[in-house]
Amino acid sequence: MRFTAKARECSSRQQATTAGEPGEATSSILPTPRYFIIFCKRLVYICQQVPERKNIEDTFMNKEIRPYKEKELGKKDQVALMFDNISKRYDLLNHLLSLGIDVYWRKKAIKLLQAHKPQRILDVATGTADFAIQSLSLRPHKVVGVDISDGMLDIGREKIKKKNLEHIIELEHGDSENLRFDDNNFDAVIVAFGVRNFEHLENGLASMYRVLDSGGRVVILEFSKPFVFPFKQLYNFYFNSILPIIGNIISKDNAAYTYLPESVQAFPDGQDFIQILKDTGFKQTEWFPLTFGICSIYTGIK
Ligand SMILES: C[S@@+](CC[C@H](N)C(=O)[O-])C[C@H]1O[C@@H](n2cnc3c(N)ncnc32)[C@H](O)[C@@H]1O
Repeated sequence: MRFTAKARECSSRQQATTAGEPGEATSSILPTPRYFIIFCKRLVYICQQVPERKNIEDTFMNKEIRPYKEKELGKKDQVALMFDNISKRYDLLNHLLSLGIDVYWRKKAIKLLQAHKPQRILDVATGTADFAIQSLSLRPHKVVGVDISDGMLDIGREKIKKKNLEHIIELEHGDSENLRFDDNNFDAVIVAFGVRNFEHLENGLASMYRVLDSGGRVVILEFSKPFVFPFKQLYNFYFNSILPIIGNIISKDNAAYTYLPESVQAFPDGQDFIQILKDTGFKQTEWFPLTFGICSIYTGIK
């Protein structure tokens, strides 16, 4: 629409020049009413763009959502503490509260990497390693998972040991905002339900971009806000009212499953998130909404 309007403006400007209006322009220093109107339209257009762009960052950066509002700790420490607290019940709650759909979402996200055949994969915010384990369907040489919660990593390590996968998956303590790996070190960087928890989203994404090899692909799975009526209304009722009660009781943490809907609500999704990926430097970005938009996969190439 904007493009058409712009094209119309350009063609009307061209017509004006070829239809003898230059005479008017040279005979008077004052702009003609037509040029004045075009100027005003451009000004209004530019003014509309600035707040629109700013809102994408404001949505998340200024409205910092933390799990334990009464605690002095910064978001990163609070998130690590929260996942340490709920680590033993995290897998159970994940499958219970999503009715098992989370398994399908992870599978779907990993499938998007099939054509790329990545050999070195980094799973950021790996938690209990479900996404890292799922990525083995791509037959990579090595998968490294990093997370800031030792409690989650311990559960992940137990799982990997039981499945005899220690030779291929390695888990280590690591912060997405300060990855210890060399530049261009991985063919794929993947994250499931992690980016929403980063303290500084842009730093985390920039760090992931740095360690990804050129031509490598990022795949991000994250909750988003559903948009289909009446599913949206029903889901919102469940997500905001029922899920926190069940989640907080079973996890024995009073804040974790209240933080979940709050953080999803405040997090940029859809085209807003795609814009942030583009700003980080990713190309050929794509957005795949899943299950009426409850969840989304975002991909991009370095
Ligand atoms: C909801 S869990 C997701 C775990 C796993 N990826 C999955 O699919 O179930 C989010 C994880 O992100 C981790 N996390 C949050 N901020 C992080 C950061 N800055 N660096 C690394 N991990 C982080 C948390 O510790 C937690 O284990």
